[in-house]
Amino acid sequence: MGAGQPPGRRVEVRTPAKINLFLAIRGRRPDGYHDLVSVMQTVALHDRLSVDIDGPPAHEQHPAAHRRMQISLSVDETRGVPAGRGNLVAQAAALLGARMGFVDPTQDWMAQVPGRAHRTAIALRKRIPVAGGMAGGSSDAAGTLVALNALWDCGLGVDDLRDMAADLGSDVPFCVVGGTALATGRGTQVARVLCRGTFHWVIGASDEPLSTADVYRHWDEVAEPSTTEPDVVLTALSAGDAEALGAALVNDLQPAVFRLRPELADARGALLDAGALGAVVSGSGPTVIGLAADEADAHRIADRVADHFDRVHTAASPAGGPELVR
Ligand code: C5P
Repeated sequence: MGAGQPPGRRVEVRTPAKINLFLAIRGRRPDGYHDLVSVMQTVALHDRLSVDIDGPPAHEQHPAAHRRMQISLSVDETRGVPAGRGNLVAQAAALLGARMGFVDPTQDWMAQVPGRAHRTAIALRKRIPVAGGMAGGSSDAAGTLVALNALWDCGLGVDDLRDMAADLGSDVPFCVVGGTALATGRGTQVARVLCRGTFHWVIGASDEPLSTADVYRHWDEVAEPSTTEPDVVLTALSAGDAEALGAALVNDLQPAVFRLRPELADARGALLDAGALGAVVSGSGPTVIGLAADEADAHRIADRVADHFDRVHTAASPAGGPELVR
């Protein structure tokens, strides 16, 4: 917060990535989406959002009286991340703004002119792999809802934000809540799941993104609906048993991802050869995650598989939801 600025005019939020420990696809729905059962967890690999209100102090320009709030968005140099309306952060801000009556969705709500009054300026710094199967964009959108709920003084609860989040994408409701959850339907119905202890992951990222829609289309061509249940994963989580969890990791999208990107099958093999207790594609890929016995083991495995990925991170799970850091 800059010197002399009144409090409450800037918030920063850390938004965690998501991994899928279990993802079974039950079939294609009439609306084109797929019904699934997934166990998801947030991991301590974060993007950061800074959000400011420009212009006079917030209490003098409380936007509830009008619908003239404009949104601006700047994004760091990360490749492939749009800074305009195409970014889920901008869409989340517009959605919440329209719901609260601050933003007029029929007007040009994306601010072009810096320094204009009634402007909410959002800056996004990426660390989560882009289009990587780790819900990076969804997590940024969830973080935006949480940040603006505080900054705009909307007074909404987590349940309100979670319900709204489904309009932004299938993973966004989970990202509002974070932690460990069982997701069903399109992925938007989330129920908390018990998880004891901490798990240590090696996260192998690729700079070549995969489109979620392409991966699901490929699944339509090559795969059959599965009836696998997540019981073994849920039991391993509640027992804090890394070995059992490693052996139980499931992703029905993995064969489709490997058909699109055969080198990732080798990369998964490299994680297992390096001593991972289990390894699987996260979500629609191309990120591949390996479970380590402990933190030191995660670092050791990460060093050994570095040549198979563009970047390798280590991170613990479960993390929480979006976290206001100031
Ligand atoms: O919901 P979201 O916008 O993140 O989904 C991106 C794409 O992934 C959808 O357009 C759809 O093609 C596919 N998808 C799906 N079934 C789901 C979730 C996503 O087919 N449950």
